[in-house]
Amino acid sequence: MVRRSTPRRFGVLGSGDVGQALAKGLTGNGYEVRIGTRSPGKLAKFSKSTGIQEASFQEVASWAEALVLAVLGQAALEAIKLAGPGNLRGKLVIDTTNPISKEPPDDGVLRYFTGPNESLMERLQTAYPEVGFVKAFNSVGSTLMVHPILSGGPPTMFYCGNDAGAKATVAQLLEQFGWEPADMGGVTAARAWNRWRNCGASPDSATTTGCMRFGCCARNRLLSTLEVN
Ligand SMILES: NC(=O)c1ccc[n+]([C@@H]2O[C@H](COP(=O)([O-])OP(=O)(O)OC[C@H]3O[C@@H](n4cnc5c(N)ncnc54)[C@H](OP(=O)(O)O)[C@@H]3O)[C@@H](O)[C@H]2O)c1
Repeated sequence: MVRRSTPRRFGVLGSGDVGQALAKGLTGNGYEVRIGTRSPGKLAKFSKSTGIQEASFQEVASWAEALVLAVLGQAALEAIKLAGPGNLRGKLVIDTTNPISKEPPDDGVLRYFTGPNESLMERLQTAYPEVGFVKAFNSVGSTLMVHPILSGGPPTMFYCGNDAGAKATVAQLLEQFGWEPADMGGVTAARAWNRWRNCGASPDSATTTGCMRFGCCARNRLLSTLEVN
């Protein structure tokens, strides 16, 4: 069970676009942040320009009160092993990952390594039941994750997870980042995200080819997406 008190120290596991965007967003909202990579020195330029300290996954996880998991989906379990599962116990972990397969897309449609009746976050939660995983941010591009400016006003961000305390923290964070949080329920709800991610549309582009192709509506109110899954 994750404590309800708001964490001040966030560790970001992942050095890509998502890790960097959320690390900067967290810093900008007053949190202490460190960012993790397997490759020391990879983030030297980023650290110099932002003041966000780079460290190993393990160092970041042991220092942090809460974490963001922002690694390649195929590497999510491996990254947790590197971070040290004991360093995640009892903590919120915001899971931004998508289970995108290493195989190439079929006719432009992404392939996943999870099936329709499971999700990557369920695998993570089953492997580490004492961690408070909350799925969020994985359904939008990294440039929209923090303070998105959209013509229809504040967009809606889905989140889900089993731990009420962890979800309360994420809801608060989403509001700080300029989103309207929408609780989709327990970890099983993460299954519905694949289809939404596949349409590849931003929350502001309801009429993109992707949306028409997959028959889901992506207006700022995104809830209809879940109903078609
Ligand atoms: N890019 C987006 O706009 C976007 C939007 C929504 C969701 N997502 C999801 O967010 C996650 C992060 O995406 P991203 O584009 O920022 O970066 P990414 O290229 O998917 O992942 C980069 C991170 O994965 C780590 N990594 C790669 N292989 C690993 C392994 N075998 N073991 C441990 N760690 C490994 C890298 O470690 P090193 O630091 O050591 O290189 C790096 O930190 C992905 O799951 C993606 O599907 C991305």
